[in-house]
Amino acid sequence: MKQLIIINGPNLNLLGDREPEIYGNTTFVKFLERLKEKYSDIEITYFQSNIEGELIGKLQEVGFDYDGIILNAAAYTHTSVGIGDAIKAIKTPVVEVHISNTFSREAFRHQSYISPNARGVILGFGLLSYDLAIQSFVEVF
Ligand code: DQA
Repeated sequence: MKQLIIINGPNLNLLGDREPEIYGNTTFVKFLERLKEKYSDIEITYFQSNIEGELIGKLQEVGFDYDGIILNAAAYTHTSVGIGDAIKAIKTPVVEVHISNTFSREAFRHQSYISPNARGVILGFGLLSYDLAIQSFVEVF
C-alpha cells in the first residue's frame, strides 16, 4: 500500500473560515475524510503546523520512508530557505500544492523556495489541487 502524507503550513488549520472567497468554505478535516474514502487503497496521513521548524522536522521524519509528500507550505513557500533545503535533503518526492493561483495574486507570492526542489507543482484548483497531487503519485511517481 502506498503511503502518502499531506503537510499543510501556517493558517491552513483555518480553512473553511479563512478568506472563503479565496480558500473556500470546506474545512480540511472534512475534505480529508472524502479523500481517504476516494483513495481507500492509499494510506494518507495528515500533518499541519503553524511553526516552520515543525514542518522541517516532519519532512525529515517522513522523508526517507514515505512514497510521497504533498506539501502546501502556505506563507513559508515564499520565505523559507530552510524548508527548501529540507526538501533537497530528503529522498521522498515532494509535490507542491496551493489552493489559490499564487501567480494571479501579489508579487511576493510569485516566489517559491519549494518549486525548484519539488517534482511538480499544482496550484489554483482549490482543494482539488490536493486530489490532483495524489493522482500524480498514483500515475506518475
Ligand atoms: C497558499 C498560498 C500562499 O500564498 C498563502 O500564504 C497561503 C495559502 C494557497 O494554498 O493558496 O497561506 O499556499
